[in-house]
Amino acid sequence: MRAMVWESRFEGRAPVSILENFNSSIAADMFLFGAELRASSAYARGLATAGLLTRKELAAILGGLAAIEERGRNPEAFRPFEDVHSAVELLLIEEIGEAGKKLHTGRSRNEQVATDERLYLKDEIPALIGAAASVQRALVGLAEQNIEIVMPGYSHLQRGQPILFAHYVLSFFWAVERGKERLRDALRRVDVLPLGSGALAGSTVPLDREELRKLLGFAEISENSYDVVGDRGFVLETLFALALLLLDLSRLAEDFVLFATAEFGFLEFDPSLATSSSLMPQKKNPDVFELVRAAPGRLFGRLAQLFLAVKGLPSSYNKDLQEDKKPLREGVEDARLVLAAAAASLERVRPNRERMRAAVAPNLFAADLADVLVDRGVPFRDAHAAAASAVRIAEEKGGDIASLTADEWAAIHPLFGKIPEDIFDPLASIRRKKTSGSTHPDKVRLQIERAKVLLT
Ligand code: ARG
Repeated sequence: MRAMVWESRFEGRAPVSILENFNSSIAADMFLFGAELRASSAYARGLATAGLLTRKELAAILGGLAAIEERGRNPEAFRPFEDVHSAVELLLIEEIGEAGKKLHTGRSRNEQVATDERLYLKDEIPALIGAAASVQRALVGLAEQNIEIVMPGYSHLQRGQPILFAHYVLSFFWAVERGKERLRDALRRVDVLPLGSGALAGSTVPLDREELRKLLGFAEISENSYDVVGDRGFVLETLFALALLLLDLSRLAEDFVLFATAEFGFLEFDPSLATSSSLMPQKKNPDVFELVRAAPGRLFGRLAQLFLAVKGLPSSYNKDLQEDKKPLREGVEDARLVLAAAAASLERVRPNRERMRAAVAPNLFAADLADVLVDRGVPFRDAHAAAASAVRIAEEKGGDIASLTADEWAAIHPLFGKIPEDIFDPLASIRRKKTSGSTHPDKVRLQIERAKVLLT
């Protein structure tokens, strides 16, 4: 039989263990234990300020909460309770007696859950942002150490134009940066104090909520008690921000898995992030990147789970909201693990400069050839058509545009005349990109500088 804070409501209640276990959330909400102790200590101080606790009672409660913190090391001790909130209250009463019975004056578990979850995320979101920054540091390192490597840039998974490998790698830096921004933005809405909302209508205790806000380090105070006890938007948007962050990393992971194939051969992985086969001894499998690729599915699943639990709920608190614990905790912990694994893997990737250079085939300069004609006064659409015929004619001959003779070029367009010497030089092509944010080496160096500023 579990100990409940509301036991006296029913007389001669015959507990049915399957139902008590079903109702209980203690197995899922112990991760809020630290937050619950902080929130309870702040609440006790608030009660004292409001004149509902004597100095002695407050001291007893604060001492008792500290003692319970010790007992938290043994989760077994918490098994018999309904949830972490009632466990702390009942253990406090056990610990200090009468004064403990006053802690819940004017308070509800509905506001405690919301407060604890927000306190938890106020710690976790900055840690997650830090973990994302480690991924970014690894990306900048990879880009900076290989600044002169060229590779084909792809769209539709077809070779498009030459780019710097560093430009490619940094493309993920900015995706992760947006992920960090989303988390920071979510944190703004997390950083709101619910305590003082009571069950749904507010508290009869004249609590100084500003004092509670300061004690718990919240940026703001919720405006509506009815709203804040039922709101889980802050959990959902945090999970979404994490899911999207992992979604971006899963695209990197898929690229890397592909780039490590014998067919591409662009990347080599340190054996520490690979596995081999129990049967095929030659295998070097990119397991870690495959798992990073799979990870957003789990996050999305948790997001969907909570989304659907909230969908169609009546406003204010409903027990369905108890279901938010697992998606919240597991989502946060999972994302942190994936970010750490991604960062550690990125530090152990070696690009193969020769293979990437070899993949920059002459046809990737077709757009550069159109530009040659544009420079010589031909309208772009005509220049594009001429370069396209060059590709087609070369293809018909079974080759690429580097195999065309001077006569053939002249026949395709008289202004092709003399093709610039460096037209099939990847770096020359890359240097012709002039815009900010382009793959031009100077612009890529600027990107690296800006990235580093963002990381300091
Ligand atoms: N264990 C509950 C939860 O996590 C705490 C709030 C319960 N409130 C209530 N009125 N039964 O949501």
